[in-house]
Amino acid sequence: MSYKISIVGASGYTGGELLRWALIHPQMEVAQVTSERFAGTQVTKLNPNLRGFTQAEFTSVKTLNTDIDTLFLCLPHKVSAPFVKQYIDTGVKIIDLSADFRIHNPQTYEHYYQPHPCPELLPRAVYGLPELHREQIKRAQLVAGVGCLASSVILATAPLVKAGLIDPSRIIADSKIGSSAGGAAFDISTHHPERQGTVRAYKPTGHRHTAEIEQELNAIAQAANHQAIVSVGLSPHAVEMVRGIFSTIHAPVSRPLTDLDVWKAYRSFYSGSPFVRLVKDKGTLYRYPEPKEVIGTNFCDIGFELDADRPRLVAMSAIDNLMRGSAGPAIACFNLMHNLDEKTGLWVPGYHPI
Ligand SMILES: NC(=O)c1ccc[n+]([C@@H]2O[C@H](COP(=O)([O-])OP(=O)(O)OC[C@H]3O[C@@H](n4cnc5c(N)ncnc54)[C@H](OP(=O)(O)O)[C@@H]3O)[C@@H](O)[C@H]2O)c1
Repeated sequence: MSYKISIVGASGYTGGELLRWALIHPQMEVAQVTSERFAGTQVTKLNPNLRGFTQAEFTSVKTLNTDIDTLFLCLPHKVSAPFVKQYIDTGVKIIDLSADFRIHNPQTYEHYYQPHPCPELLPRAVYGLPELHREQIKRAQLVAGVGCLASSVILATAPLVKAGLIDPSRIIADSKIGSSAGGAAFDISTHHPERQGTVRAYKPTGHRHTAEIEQELNAIAQAANHQAIVSVGLSPHAVEMVRGIFSTIHAPVSRPLTDLDVWKAYRSFYSGSPFVRLVKDKGTLYRYPEPKEVIGTNFCDIGFELDADRPRLVAMSAIDNLMRGSAGPAIACFNLMHNLDEKTGLWVPGYHPI
């Protein structure tokens, strides 16, 4: 059986990545892909990697037919929310990849973004990270796609917070991120002469993804009856990669720990989560996670090291921002919302070497 899907904002980077996976998904049939700027243009003129896989043309969102099973919105935040409001009562399942429905608290959303245009819909959205909300996602009509930086930090720290291994009020996350995270629209900061060779801090404090990281980790801490309030200092850096995020997360340990304690916490949290891989390969070049090994896949690779001389744990995670940080969990959520195996259409290894 196939499910009809449409992608609004398919000319962008996440929309293009989602389309790449939708076209080879065994149970998705792509009905419409929209772009306002490129309406009437063949998709392969913008996405030459899809030659031979589709002859579709972009259409305007004004012609969107909602006689489909699932609508993917790959739009900028603020642009997305009105579309959710417009289509939610048609009964179609919606997976919104923007930030508009990730934050449950409208004041927090306003603090980091702008006043929310439809706060009444926030309680209907489930945060689209299967590792945390698999059962709720299965029943959801509206799923909020994850933030790319946020998912790299949440996945590396959630098991540690749940098991009470670290002081959650003093988490520091230092992330390196590739240029495709900025989207396809021209921006001086992603222009090749400016970006080439760069290691540039941006938003060293107050990054928007802090809101969803703290929201999700606080929920885990509360469910585990931990008293401390989670506080995360997130500092991203733009680096030269096109795709990829590498997050290094530092936290004080809450008691003396062994490697086995940390392994156990990760293993038990991620049993039944096929897209998280634990990496700690002593004595090889690949002893820690690395974005290159997960590019083009839905995997999040996680590693860690306990500081032998200080009460500190360093966790590391590597993802592809366009896949594991966006299109990948969106497709995994689609699978769950349609009672399919979470891995359907997503189970591929990465490239090596790349
Ligand atoms: N890039 C990432 O790594 C990443 C990761 C996680 C989440 N996200 C989120 O995913 C969303 C899309 O990001 P992106 O990187 O794919 O952005 P992008 O490359 O700039 O693409 C944006 C898309 O939105 C469409 N669009 C913009 N304004 C529109 C409007 N008023 N009406 C209809 N369509 C409109 C554009 O279509 P036109 O052709 O008409 O301009 C384009 O297809 C954002 O909310 C972003 O925060 C991105």
